[in-house]
Amino acid sequence: MERQKVKQLLSEMTIEEKVGQLTQFAGLFYSTQTNDVPVTGPVDFPVNDEIIETSGSVLGIAGAKKLIDIQKTYLEKSRLNIPLLFMADVINGFETIFPIPLGLGATWEPSLIEELQAVSAKEATSAGLHVSFAPMADLVRDPRWGRVMESTGEDPYLNGLFAEATVRGLQGEDLTQNSEHLAACVKHFAAYGAAEGGRDYNTVDVSERELREMHMPAYKAALEAGVKLVMTAFNTVHSVPATGNQALLRGMLREEYGFEGLVISDFGAVQELIPHGVAEDETEASKKALLAGVDIDMMSLCYSHSLTQLIKEKKLDESLLNEAVERVLHLKNDLGLFEDPYRGTSEKREKSTLGHASHKELARTVAEKSSVLLKNNDILPLTKETTIALVGPYADNNDLLGEWSIFGNMDETATLKDKLQEAFPTLTFAKGSDLYERNQDLLEEAIHSATHADVVVLALGEGRDRSGEGRSRSSITLSPSQIELAKKISELGKPVVVTLFNARPIDLTELEPYVDAILECWHPGSEGASAIVNLLIGDANPSGKLTMSFPRATGQIPVYYNAYNTGRPLPAGSEERFFSRYIDIPNEPLYPFGYGLSYASFEYSEARSNGDKFDRKQTLQVEIDVTNTCNVEGEEIVQLYIQDPVAEVTRPVKELKGFKKITLAPNETKTVSFEISEPMLRYHHSDLSYSSDPGTFYVFINGSSNCTDTNKLTITLTEA
Ligand code: IFM
Repeated sequence: MERQKVKQLLSEMTIEEKVGQLTQFAGLFYSTQTNDVPVTGPVDFPVNDEIIETSGSVLGIAGAKKLIDIQKTYLEKSRLNIPLLFMADVINGFETIFPIPLGLGATWEPSLIEELQAVSAKEATSAGLHVSFAPMADLVRDPRWGRVMESTGEDPYLNGLFAEATVRGLQGEDLTQNSEHLAACVKHFAAYGAAEGGRDYNTVDVSERELREMHMPAYKAALEAGVKLVMTAFNTVHSVPATGNQALLRGMLREEYGFEGLVISDFGAVQELIPHGVAEDETEASKKALLAGVDIDMMSLCYSHSLTQLIKEKKLDESLLNEAVERVLHLKNDLGLFEDPYRGTSEKREKSTLGHASHKELARTVAEKSSVLLKNNDILPLTKETTIALVGPYADNNDLLGEWSIFGNMDETATLKDKLQEAFPTLTFAKGSDLYERNQDLLEEAIHSATHADVVVLALGEGRDRSGEGRSRSSITLSPSQIELAKKISELGKPVVVTLFNARPIDLTELEPYVDAILECWHPGSEGASAIVNLLIGDANPSGKLTMSFPRATGQIPVYYNAYNTGRPLPAGSEERFFSRYIDIPNEPLYPFGYGLSYASFEYSEARSNGDKFDRKQTLQVEIDVTNTCNVEGEEIVQLYIQDPVAEVTRPVKELKGFKKITLAPNETKTVSFEISEPMLRYHHSDLSYSSDPGTFYVFINGSSNCTDTNKLTITLTEA
């Protein structure tokens, strides 16, 4: 319908009908066939039929028939024929599941992310969905937090590129015309990734500068890409819960960043203003949330119970209600729901779309590109003649889809064993240990099974039950039973290759010395097993690079590449006491941001530039030659870092400012160049102004963030 008609529709609505549009409840209240709906908070509250019949949107269910039925029943009772919105978490795929976002980040390929998100949108819309709660653009530095798996990592610039790509992939060009795309919702605004101690839902206390410099860029990138919705975070921002934070939502998000779309709370977050200690009861919580700019109350009864009365008693201005409802109606209209409340969904379309062969093919490619080779003592790739013993609790485990794969099908997911035995028919298999519990019989069986093999492939990790929302850990090591298994197997003196299936950086310090190769596979998705086998046998070449550092110990957390120097930076190789260091471990993580090996090996020349001075109107070209010194083709991610060594405020030791992914044939050399311009040197000053300062900058071009002075260039931004 024409945009102006939304106002007309609004004018015909009663206050109760308007309040209904601002509430959202889980699918389990709509259908008896929804026992498998994910619930991530309290659901044992009394939602009566009246609330359900007027509520404007539904959370967490999908399926063409189910949603068509629900929409039909709902519309039969809707006085003004306003259709329901169906929203769900389509994070790394709908039925075809791609690697978890932390793995997607490791591809360093935003265009690939856009492509797979378009596939996710196609599948999700065929099953009736209108909104996906993605991208999750939270910057993460603490692997104890179970939700790091949903992020693309610790770098604001890279996170921004992925957030933007996700929005573009999900939303496409035109939501009204193209019902194969859906609306995206960037979350969790803001700084949810900075929960203290990595404990989910815990306090966040970041400075305004840190908030703007590190956390905001990725949310902003999603806004700039035209994201339709923003979800508030559970945490506080400057001591005020985000869901009741006027400065954050009305000030920063709407006024400063110009966001005109819909703001939705996280699950129960309006009600949580009470335990947060900023609202006395549901009424005050509702008032604070609406005043702050929260349009939809997801899964709490606050708005349903108190907004009508607040408006009728003139304790809240009706214009606030109207503007929120108008935004909901606009989204429904932008999705074309007034013309077709089913948006072309049908069981037929769903059947021909879900799990399409081309989607699976893409899922395999992405899983290959997201895996990161952390160690390789020349044992990988495996040759076809090798006798393999496959050992470990993840070897025959189909828990490969990741925590948010709510519409994926784990039962139909091939395990590593299924696929590896296709490549090595003589393969032996033994579990060796349960994931978290020791088992002497299994251990002995595994040692026996590995005795006659040439190479042992160990499949280790942690399942979805140890990651995701509400699953923070105080220690991020593998279980003792898996470490024991690895040690016992290594005593056989055979090469040991570890395939790791997990959803957060794991502390691998104890395991690493006992094994010859480590391939980080993440939770790799529906086609993960095929992808990993392709990598193991060299039909695919690992190219992923970490976007979140792997600490040496839990006690080293947080450890991230774009940290500050401190006043007492530890000189390289020094063990002096009065410097910023641990006395028991090095400062560096075990595997840093940007790190990842290939079966090819790459040599970098010295970096060069076409000058060493430039002004605000000029650019400088820096370049480097990269050579594949091997006889296999490989992909390399060439990374550009800049350091501002003297500034008005302390600046990170380096910041990623660009990267290029190149393919190099055996013995091929390519020149990779980057353009440096003044905007890349801007930062937030102590007065929060965003600008650059003239002076010296260091440039590093490398295949990882662990650059040294040997690949450093000095450039100068001049006053003019
Ligand atoms: O989208 C999620 C959010 O990330 C965490 N709480 C529940 C929401 C809806 O499922």
